[in-house]
Amino acid sequence: MERTFVYLKPNAVRRGLVGEIIKRFEQRGIKIVALKLFWMSRKQAEKLYEMHYGKSFYEELIDFVTGGPVVAMIVEAPRVIEMVRHIIGDTDPLKAGTGTIRGEFALTITKNLIHASDSRGSFEREYKIFFDESEIVNYYLDVQDDI
Ligand code: CMP
Repeated sequence: MERTFVYLKPNAVRRGLVGEIIKRFEQRGIKIVALKLFWMSRKQAEKLYEMHYGKSFYEELIDFVTGGPVVAMIVEAPRVIEMVRHIIGDTDPLKAGTGTIRGEFALTITKNLIHASDSRGSFEREYKIFFDESEIVNYYLDVQDDI
């Protein structure tokens, strides 16, 4: 079993896409082990995106992700890091495949609706910015036996 960190950006919340996006993870058999809606602080955004500091899109990105509430999750499944990235599609919505979240609902890179960790190392770093260990719920999800 593997875990990954995912968050729905403010435009996904404003556009009422939270249910649509979570549905896609659930129907694939992915287990949600932590979930919350909150307003990301500038400090959290700067930590999350520290590797992009100084890039042309950095300020726009920080302003955008702190401009409204987000929904963050930790999800669990076999090879879930790669699986979630397949479900959400390429960072650039123009390159995101048909049927992916970004391929169906996103138009621009900065406002690409959703973020997911790209490796185990990124997951370990990213989830700790937003979740305490006590917020992660361990439970048995029956559907994972049949998927
Ligand atoms: P995300 O998966 O959250 O990780 C980094 C974010 O930076 C990315 O999604 C985009 O929202 C943003 N980003 C990456 N590259 C660019 C770019 N070339 N122009 C604007 N925003 C970008």
